Amino acid sequence: MEKQTDARPGAYARRRAHFALIFFALLAVGLFAWNPENLYLWIKALHIIAVISWMAGLFYMPRLFIYHTDAEPGSAQSETFKVMERRLLKIIMNPAMMLTWIFGLYLAWSVYGFQGGWLHAKIGLVVLLTGVHMFFSRAVRDFAADRNRRSARYWRFMNEAPTALMILIVILVVVKPF
Ligand code: HEM
Repeated sequence: MEKQTDARPGAYARRRAHFALIFFALLAVGLFAWNPENLYLWIKALHIIAVISWMAGLFYMPRLFIYHTDAEPGSAQSETFKVMERRLLKIIMNPAMMLTWIFGLYLAWSVYGFQGGWLHAKIGLVVLLTGVHMFFSRAVRDFAADRNRRSARYWRFMNEAPTALMILIVILVVVKPF
């Protein structure tokens, strides 16, 4: 019986991710061509969709690391975690991060001309969040080579980093306190 860790389901997942990316790219191009009065709100909706997808991955990845740390290297369980981590990173998190940046920078430029203390602080925190993303990406490579030396407790702690950054980012963009 075919397993989710086999090559074929992986290829399907990749194809679905490419389809979703092409769909979003075409939607964005279509919106720019149509140029509706409320284009800004459409792009904001796409930005929020991308943010939700990216954050889902950033919250889930350290949970996978916690359980992967306990799995014996070379065991079936450990190999399954490797597949889950690689697909989560490549199929969801990387494309969602790129779309979040593209739509976010458009919003920051089109209405705010990159001005505003809240916007500068928000971009600074999103740079930190991108750093967390890159750190997780390196950890995926380490786990794939059975080279992780960090404890489950460490990954539990790292689980809080995207949460704390997300809370501050959302407060900055909604309340705009300065
Ligand atoms: C990648 C860099 C990013 C830039 C340059 C950026 C910039 C912006 C801008 C200019 C707006 C429009 C604000 C308004 O119309 O009042 C916005 C909306 C929003 N952003 Fe981002 N953003 C980025 C990433 C993120 C991330 C990582 C999150 C969440 C963790 C986020 C959450 C939101 C939310 C919730 C809104 C809607 C706010 C509202 O309509 O009140 N953004 N973003």
